[in-house]
Amino acid sequence: MCGIFGIVTNEKKNLGPILISAGRRLSYRGYDTVGAATIPERGDIDLRKDVGKVDEVASRLKFEELTGNRAILQLRWATFGAPSQINAQPHLDSYGDLVGAHNGNIVNNVELRKQFLQEGMIVRSENDGESCVHAVERYANQGYDMVEAIRHAYNDLEGDYAFVIGKVGEDRLYAIKKGSGLVAGIGDDSTYISSDLPSILPLTKKIFRIQDGEIVIFWADRIELRNVEDGRLIQREPEIVEESMESVQKGGYAHFMLKEIHEQPKVAGDLLHLLDNTKEVDAMVERMANARNLYLVGCGTSYHACLLGSVYLNRLTGKASIPILAPQFIAQYGTTLTSDDVGIFVSQSGETKDVLNAINLAQEKKMGILGIANVVGSTLTQVSEHHIPLACGYEISVPATKTFSNQVIAFLYLAMRMGGHDTKALAKLPEWLTKTLESIQNQIPKIENRVSAWNDLYILGYGLTYPIALEGALKLKEITYAHCEGMLSTEFKHGPLSAVRDGYPVIFVAGPEDTSLIVSGINEITCRGGHAIAIGKADARLQNNANDAIELPQIDAPDNLEPYIDALMSILPLQLLSYRISVSRGYDPDFPRNLSKTLTVD
Ligand code: AGP
Repeated sequence: MCGIFGIVTNEKKNLGPILISAGRRLSYRGYDTVGAATIPERGDIDLRKDVGKVDEVASRLKFEELTGNRAILQLRWATFGAPSQINAQPHLDSYGDLVGAHNGNIVNNVELRKQFLQEGMIVRSENDGESCVHAVERYANQGYDMVEAIRHAYNDLEGDYAFVIGKVGEDRLYAIKKGSGLVAGIGDDSTYISSDLPSILPLTKKIFRIQDGEIVIFWADRIELRNVEDGRLIQREPEIVEESMESVQKGGYAHFMLKEIHEQPKVAGDLLHLLDNTKEVDAMVERMANARNLYLVGCGTSYHACLLGSVYLNRLTGKASIPILAPQFIAQYGTTLTSDDVGIFVSQSGETKDVLNAINLAQEKKMGILGIANVVGSTLTQVSEHHIPLACGYEISVPATKTFSNQVIAFLYLAMRMGGHDTKALAKLPEWLTKTLESIQNQIPKIENRVSAWNDLYILGYGLTYPIALEGALKLKEITYAHCEGMLSTEFKHGPLSAVRDGYPVIFVAGPEDTSLIVSGINEITCRGGHAIAIGKADARLQNNANDAIELPQIDAPDNLEPYIDALMSILPLQLLSYRISVSRGYDPDFPRNLSKTLTVD
């Protein structure tokens, strides 16, 4: 969701290729428009921006020609103002002395624009990034230096954002963070600012993770941090990041999504190793066991992991837990929360605004805050009393795959530990995931065309497979643009059954405990001319009753765990099916339209 990048170099040089590469690295976040600007010491800012993909816009507007020693790049995911050239970022101030771009949401944008117009400023777009620039212009015009102008602007700008700005005639750039990710880096002859770490890592490993309320001033050879409240200098040494960029390459796969689907066995092993060796598990289990109410809070895929996690917890520990979508947590439980309650907040990015809003409320109520997140150093990991990192490495593709399976594994591990079960039984999980991936490869093509022929369909599950049906449906709609609804199989007859007609596809995810129930659901479809597809372990009842069956392989999981493991395995065919249909329809599964990897707005 929007991405900003800034660079200051020690001499004038061709910055185009650096900006284009940074744009490509930020593009996983989702965007509609691309823009770049170089800021000279004398003369006019060179601003180029338009609607489209990084490579298209860069080639059309000849980004490779951009030369200078200071530049800003922005990818915009539309919220305020349509995705258009005029609303694209960066934006100029009234007279072209300042140029800036933001990532986030200025919630008082409409009011600010009116004020700026009344004050005689030239407002060109509806976009809230432009308001950030005018907010600084307002105080620069009153004679404040840039740091002071930014400090004053900070008080006027409501919302969560990260913002970078530069001024003609200077030798530095400025950035500020409030609620959105921001990382600064120092290279040999340049400094950088960016919305995230991956876009800086190929340039330098010496970085500062910027905190909320910090202003960054960066020259070619140094970075200064100041507190926005009082302007005081903040002393902090840069950290050296050891992460490799290998994990953010496609590694021979056609798409990140396919790579990430196939990484699931490896990252499951990494997570188990981490869980076996961290004290956080026991600390979390203790907090969970003593909670009055235990809430499992997330959005999208992370919420589906909470749903399955709740079933695991209930069945393996006997303790009830309440899975809830983050915004609904506020609406539904806001008034009844107490300091005896505990929330496990689950998020790949650790920055999802809905989740952070829920955490703010939990903090107000003095609840216990536990986290499960993939991005270490994200807000969620920082505010949690205890947290489990998902150990997935970067998940670039917008559809979550490997982080879902590791969220589920984290819940299973916590539930087993809390219920006094031996977690060594999970050691073969990577092997079971590999076996499942191998066994479904050749089975998916037989259902792919039939499913792809329809633009609306259902995926049904029951008990342990109900969350899988929801997650499978989310994957399918997210990247194939078909309408696909996930549902409890027994609810289907209470209304949606009327959609069934000749050939209408309904996918059933069958857990071993509920096969009979699923079979009766299958027959409700087939006797009305619908086409039932079953996903589950080899079972004559499924084969004899469904029109097609995707068989999951036998695995040697202990009997008491098998239904839990089977539920996890059954997401794999749905991930792969969604991927294949997306590609066969000519879409890019990594970057579905309108969507963003990190949703930092309400
Ligand atoms: C999953 O494929 C989606 N991209 C989306 O539903 C995602 O899970 C949701 O936006 C929550 O993100 P988070 O896990 O980073 O909080």
